[in-house]
Amino acid sequence: MSFRFHLQATDGAARTGRIETPRGEIRTPAFMPVGTAGTVKAMMPESVAATGADILLGNTYHLMLRPGAERVARLGGLHSFMNWERPILTDSGGFQVMSLAGLRKLTEEGVTFQSHIDGSKHLLSPETSMEIQRQLGSDIVMCFDECPALPADEATVKRSMELSMRWAQRSRDAFGDRPAHALFGIQQGGVTEELRGESAEALTAIGFEGYAIGGLAVGEGQEAMFGVLDYAPGMLPQDKPRYLMGVGKPDDIVGAVKRGVDMMDCVLPSRSGRTGQAWTRRGQVNLRNARHADDPRPLDEACGCPACRNYSRAYLHHVVRAGEMIGGMLLTWHNLHYYQELMAGMRRAIAEGSFEAWEAAFHAGRAEGDI
Ligand code: GUN
Ligand code: ZN
Repeated sequence: MSFRFHLQATDGAARTGRIETPRGEIRTPAFMPVGTAGTVKAMMPESVAATGADILLGNTYHLMLRPGAERVARLGGLHSFMNWERPILTDSGGFQVMSLAGLRKLTEEGVTFQSHIDGSKHLLSPETSMEIQRQLGSDIVMCFDECPALPADEATVKRSMELSMRWAQRSRDAFGDRPAHALFGIQQGGVTEELRGESAEALTAIGFEGYAIGGLAVGEGQEAMFGVLDYAPGMLPQDKPRYLMGVGKPDDIVGAVKRGVDMMDCVLPSRSGRTGQAWTRRGQVNLRNARHADDPRPLDEACGCPACRNYSRAYLHHVVRAGEMIGGMLLTWHNLHYYQELMAGMRRAIAEGSFEAWEAAFHAGRAEGDI
């Protein structure tokens, strides 16, 4: 068995450990930068590694449409294609179809949809999604699921969850016997505890190398999300990694780790870097703001990233305002560095049994206001 999760320490519900894979170790809790189309936008892969990332997320939906999964396979797989030899997790496509594709039709078989790029017609099903993720060479493959937008009535959420559980079984069957790779199930059930319980039971009966919590951060708000995270991680096997999909802001991430989540991904640090937003230990800073125009200080004098070591706020403000590419590059690097430092701080605190004090310091830093 070349794919293994070691739980090293717990502190309350929070956990720290490592996932061993043939492509290297993933320290948990882990934040996975999003490399949707075979690139973490504005970053060289070696720079992403320098921020402390152990694993990236890629997207079935985008890569199947462009450049095509068969082409990536012919060229040696996604790792070699994008020059990232560490682990890659790929999302299964259904979630992106719902948010990005044009005309789409959902049946028991899967989803047919039109490409948002050229209008061409495609089918994603548990079987085609498993095949595409295999062609990409993904280390952690996600089950093909459906994620209803919230708020939705309970009957709709139940029907959708039950479909996702049938698709989870078909995903498991189609994935086959690939011991160097992992397949993760995805729990659905909206904000209803009973449905989350039924979903966890269905997934556990099938058996996966890890379990994701899906269907959150889709419009329900932080309070409702934390409400679900108060019980959902505990429904999943203790000895397997738990992955909260598509989350989030730094305070969402801290709250999720506190409640027993081991892995997360979000476009936020990279996407907001490209619009001039920085995330710091004092909260969010908008570099477009005129108050930075004459400020010779670094964005955060306590940050070790290249944007903070080598440039002033005045320069960052200038390049962001001027639409220069280096603005997005520097702020993406800073944001990813900040997120990885946040994860490293939590891993240390959990290992030492001081997560509560760490969390209090995290919130106190943000309450102090802008740097
Ligand atoms: N990304 C964010 N949420 C979800 C989800 O529920 N399912 C999948 N497949 N991807 C997601
Ligand atoms: Zn920095």
